[in-house]
Amino acid sequence: MAMVEINSEGGGNWRLLISGDRGAVAIVAIGGSGHKRRRSVMVETGGNWSIIALSMLSFNVSPLLSFPPSLTSIILVLFITFLTLKCLRLLCSSTAAADLHLPPSPPKFPIIGNLHQLGNYPHRSLQALSRRYGPLMMLHFGSTPVLVVSSADCARDIMKTHDVIFSDRTRSTLSERLLYHRKDVSLAPYGEYWRQMRSISVLQLLSNKRVQSFRTVREEEISLLMDKIERQRSVDLSGVLASLTNDVICRVALGRKYSEGNQSEKFKGLLADLVGLLGIFNVGDFIPSLGWINKLTGLDAKADLVAREFDQFLDKVVEEHRRKMEKKSTGGGGGEDRRDFVDVLLEIEKDKTVGFALGADSIKALILDMFAGGTDTTHTVLEWAMTELLRHPRAMNILQTEVREIANGKPMISDEDLEKLHYLRAVVKETLRLYPPIPLLIPRLSTQDVKIQGYDIAAGTMVITNAWTIGRDPSTWDEPDEFKPERFLNSSVDFKGQDFELIPFGAGRRGCPGIAFAMATNDLVLANLVNKFDWALPEGMTAEDLDMTECTGLTIHRKVHLLAVATPFPS
Ligand code: HEM
Repeated sequence: MAMVEINSEGGGNWRLLISGDRGAVAIVAIGGSGHKRRRSVMVETGGNWSIIALSMLSFNVSPLLSFPPSLTSIILVLFITFLTLKCLRLLCSSTAAADLHLPPSPPKFPIIGNLHQLGNYPHRSLQALSRRYGPLMMLHFGSTPVLVVSSADCARDIMKTHDVIFSDRTRSTLSERLLYHRKDVSLAPYGEYWRQMRSISVLQLLSNKRVQSFRTVREEEISLLMDKIERQRSVDLSGVLASLTNDVICRVALGRKYSEGNQSEKFKGLLADLVGLLGIFNVGDFIPSLGWINKLTGLDAKADLVAREFDQFLDKVVEEHRRKMEKKSTGGGGGEDRRDFVDVLLEIEKDKTVGFALGADSIKALILDMFAGGTDTTHTVLEWAMTELLRHPRAMNILQTEVREIANGKPMISDEDLEKLHYLRAVVKETLRLYPPIPLLIPRLSTQDVKIQGYDIAAGTMVITNAWTIGRDPSTWDEPDEFKPERFLNSSVDFKGQDFELIPFGAGRRGCPGIAFAMATNDLVLANLVNKFDWALPEGMTAEDLDMTECTGLTIHRKVHLLAVATPFPS
């Protein structure tokens, strides 16, 4: 509650005062003469300002204060009313804010807030800020409050203790354009629709059983990769690893590869555009008055074009699958193992097995999610793992010895061999600790007011968890910036979302459902790469020469492709 008080003293000045219920008083206007009168109005501060304004206007000031009813006085009253409302709003918000215990914040600029502090590598800039302001800090992107989480304890509070409250996602205009108005799973608002899509992803598409069923796809693609490397010897590892993960996901999701034939370049370009656009930090989402910039730069048009082209492409894929299904129902073969994601989703659509109607847009959005979430991320891990192994010949040696012992002369490592490869598991964990492919995870949104570590966090706060900083926290990790796979050998710490010091896949309800899928490919590729070949940097290049610059965007891979020389083993 706040008090508006018009106070005039006969023959002297009059004053307009406003006071809050905690005693704060502001003089908002001083004016001409009148009789000694005093009039107070109680104002409900949480109410609707326009209603207050109306009541102020209908408040007959002249007889009360004996002003001559001139045009000047009417304008003056209007002006005073306006000022009063402004000041009341300020006063009320500042008294309410004074009551709250907010996390520390770096100073911000009007309009842009802290956006200027993000730089090209937000995970690094936010790490630097968190060193000054602590593991929970409040930033503002435009006027959006953003909680930045930079320690394992705080991440546990967000993704475990208060997981339900932080299970929503923020809106983004680009992803709305690209992902069928958030009909996918990764950016869908928290609620019944998301729950159903998530359950389809977890139980039908990415389950351990389904991952197992694509074993031959992985083995065939890895075998092709080994042949390619053997032919080339001097290898663009970044390029071949990206192609491999795309081919695997294409076969698993769509039933065939799109990296060959006349469609290949177009498909690759579309996929790169999709991932690139989803990774763009869109200032218009935070400062709506700057939304026009995307029209000017052509970003909106590009997103619409990519969405349209992908939609046409997926329409064709779905149509082909429908025809194939019809043929099968009239006597064709094809067992469980051959069903790709589109087959599975069309069956769900047809049989209505999930208790709700799965529409065409939902099917296409889910497929796009699998590409957006599962391609760039997966090969990034392999790219950084090979980078670090090339920089650390001792670690490469230990790994090769382990893998070759298990292989025992076999040309290919198989799924069964993987569980015996402890050092390999440690190398992958260490890579994910140092290079979480999505260093800031996917932002969450709070849906209720909540206290975290004694701080008040309001509903509608965007939450960014800096997994990159958490993975390099010196209070958890000894020599945190060093590549030391040994640290995981006698440790139970894993990346599956239970150990908050290592959360490259996030955790909780919105944690990544694709861990088994990604790791089945990554572990097997890495084991075979080091089993089949000895690796060296290109002639004349030392570990120190290796350019470690990161690219910008949502997924952080190498800016410069990793080149290496492969020598078949045994030679
Ligand atoms: C190394 C590979 C991968 C990494 C590092 C990764 C990382 C992540 C992260 C950080 C999140 C957000 C988690 C959170 O908010 O707590 C996520 C969500 C997701 N990921 Fe992955 N991911 C990988 C592979 C995959 C694969 C292979 C797929 C599917 C084929 C996939 C599908 C998804 C989906 C659908 C979501 C959204 C879940 C939801 O919002 O409910 N990811 N992933």
